[in-house]
Amino acid sequence: MNTIPQEFQITKPLIQDTYLVDGELKKWTGKTTEVYSTISSTENYAPTLLGSIPFMGETEAIEVAESAQKAFNNGQGLWPTMKVVDRIKCMEHFVTQMKTTRTEVVKLLMWEIGKTLGDSEKEFDRTVEYINDTIESYKELNSRSAHFSKVQGINAMVRRGPLGVVLCLGPYNYPLNETFTLLIPALIMGNPVIFKPAKHGVLLISPLLEAFKSSFPKGVISIVYGRGREIASPIMRSGMVDILALIGNSKSAIALQDQHPNKNRLRLVLGLEAKNPAIILPDADLDLAIQECIAGSLSFNGQRCTALKIIYVHENIAAEFNKRFAEKVDALVFGNPWEKGVSLTPLPETEKPAYIQELIDDATSKGAKVINAKGGEHSENFIFPAVLFPINKEMRVYHEEQFGPVVPIITFKDIQEPLNDMAESNYGQQVSLFGKNIKTIAPLIDTLVNLVCRVNLNSSCQRGPDVFPFTGRKDSAFGTLSIEDALRSFSIRTFVASKDNAYNNEILQELLNSKESNFINTDYIL
Ligand code: G3H
Repeated sequence: MNTIPQEFQITKPLIQDTYLVDGELKKWTGKTTEVYSTISSTENYAPTLLGSIPFMGETEAIEVAESAQKAFNNGQGLWPTMKVVDRIKCMEHFVTQMKTTRTEVVKLLMWEIGKTLGDSEKEFDRTVEYINDTIESYKELNSRSAHFSKVQGINAMVRRGPLGVVLCLGPYNYPLNETFTLLIPALIMGNPVIFKPAKHGVLLISPLLEAFKSSFPKGVISIVYGRGREIASPIMRSGMVDILALIGNSKSAIALQDQHPNKNRLRLVLGLEAKNPAIILPDADLDLAIQECIAGSLSFNGQRCTALKIIYVHENIAAEFNKRFAEKVDALVFGNPWEKGVSLTPLPETEKPAYIQELIDDATSKGAKVINAKGGEHSENFIFPAVLFPINKEMRVYHEEQFGPVVPIITFKDIQEPLNDMAESNYGQQVSLFGKNIKTIAPLIDTLVNLVCRVNLNSSCQRGPDVFPFTGRKDSAFGTLSIEDALRSFSIRTFVASKDNAYNNEILQELLNSKESNFINTDYIL
């Protein structure tokens, strides 16, 4: 179709016919799954064939688990015992190679998940920056630990060490960035990683396979393809996984944990669902609140775990807020990811428009109205965001994480109402609070910080910047991610201690001087 710029056209399908195991890109000759984009390449709508990926099963699952376990080798492997400086060199090699794949990865991000060109570029660049920042943070962590402390007659060198094999599963909405925010810290801390790309956003990993293969020792990173049931389940059942690192939904997280034979040995690093509310107080700056709520609820079509998924508006300002908010939603431009000025784009999940329609039908059958003119308009791969008002607790959209283009609005008279709802909710990631009077805001902040893990004042919810802790209460997360926190989440404190006497001290001194040990050394990495 001539409206697709030439550089973004799909000229031939990408056949991913290898997988990464034991340091080799092994040929796959078995069953494959075709990968389609919901974006059409032709005048008359038809999904576009992007390529195919291996459909792997239990045999390959066990093959990669054994390879990863061998790379860890009960802590004796090359990778877990390697000097920090050498692990950093491997990571630097990887990031240098990765940078050369930007054009290809960005193009696939647009086709596979429908992310706009600008946001796809941002996802790539943010990931490169995250890797560089992780390297710097690890150097600092290393320098802080590079000394002996003497306490009660004991000399000790305390560091952080790897835990073992990590199974890493990322989400489709940030198939590169969020996956790498797990995979990179896990690797750099000395853990071998098995990575299965998300259900959408899988081919975009192909340009990176060579970089992974050439940057790390064999077995340190394995990349497999297929359905969670067929591949992740047998890996968990094998008992060879020490950390389950997953950003996605809690049902799969629970199902996978349940399959592990030694649950107490399994560490968890999870980013799960959320239902972040916006609370608009009567004295809020409405222009600002509307602008932030549009971005918060509808950037990337609402497919963000941090998206605003319900808006509480004080009843005194609801009429004005709703009118202006609905107009702004209708003014958003829908189009293909590379088109200038688009903010709404095709949904990668074919079943999503029907699901959003179900939520709309359910809410309207229970008294809500679609208050924007374009709300609920269907096209082949999209449903225009519907603003639903007024919402009540009988409706599915009140409880379910919509993860798509529908914005429920509810009114409140007393601030205790949204606070009670948040306390009752299964989720506790973030909130956006809009208002000005500090006499009202101050006690609210003091409560809200105990209900969620980030209170965004007159600002939409978001994960970044990545130096800030990203976590949640209740069913929204397990563990904390940030550049620094992730290094901690994927490691454990471990140390060498020795009674302070001449005999021991001489040995320690010799260990330090000889640099024979990779653990006992005081080298600074600048
Ligand atoms: O899907 C959840 C992501 O962590 C959201 O990240 O707030 O940067 O879009 P973001």
